[in-house]
Amino acid sequence: MNPLNHVAIIMDGNGRWGVRNKNSRNAGHKAGLNTVEKIIKETIKNKIKFLTLYAFSTENWKRPKKEIKFLFNLLESFLEDKIDDLNKQKIKLKIIGKKNFSLKLNNLLKISEKKTSKNKRLQINLALNYGSKSEIINAFKQLEQNKETINEKNLNKYLQTKNIPDPDLLIRTGNTKRLSNFLLWQLAYSEIFFEKKLWPDFNEKDYNKIIRKYRSIKRNFGSI
Ligand code: IPE
Ligand code: IPE
Ligand code: MG
Repeated sequence: MNPLNHVAIIMDGNGRWGVRNKNSRNAGHKAGLNTVEKIIKETIKNKIKFLTLYAFSTENWKRPKKEIKFLFNLLESFLEDKIDDLNKQKIKLKIIGKKNFSLKLNNLLKISEKKTSKNKRLQINLALNYGSKSEIINAFKQLEQNKETINEKNLNKYLQTKNIPDPDLLIRTGNTKRLSNFLLWQLAYSEIFFEKKLWPDFNEKDYNKIIRKYRSIKRNFGSI
């Protein structure tokens, strides 16, 4: 049985779900939040220590302003409502990506990280305004500035995922098979599952099915 320390998820398909079921992409984003809560609970039940959720990519700024605004308002009210509850559950929240949102959201994110920083049961890394290519370039720039040797260990220090083990398992919902600039370095040896269901339809049963399959895979890491 493979150990499972870190699950990363590309939560895709909200927009299509919303259009299909409620005639509005934004309704899909709202519905997607319920799945986030279900999956967090199930991650704790499975005693997994790290959960990384891709919520907004650096490329997602290309979307209509109205949709972007809705998404960040949704995140804002989610954090305002739930951060104390997450804290009680001993969940640590970490943002990966560049915090360059409204002053209010930037502060809320910082406060939420600080409030939960000592928690040890589960670390949730929320990828927000995150892009893997710029993360890697940034890391190289820092190596150069500090005149450090270029090797894996030193590079890892300057990635936003420093001190976080690489994902064992990547799940992408929404019936699309691509990485969309997510954790390109860190996913080098992850087991990848592409799930047909749209994110709002994804549930605990689907998640556990993938976890069971993951546990039974023979992971080689180049060996035999
Ligand atoms: C993923 O769902 C959520 C975000 C990118 C914020 P999408 O909004 O990409 O949903 P689809 O792929 O258009 O259905
Ligand atoms: C990836 O989904 C980003 C998130 C889930 C946050 P997208 O829906 O933006 O990806 P592409 O554009 O279809 O590749
Ligand atoms: Mg999408």
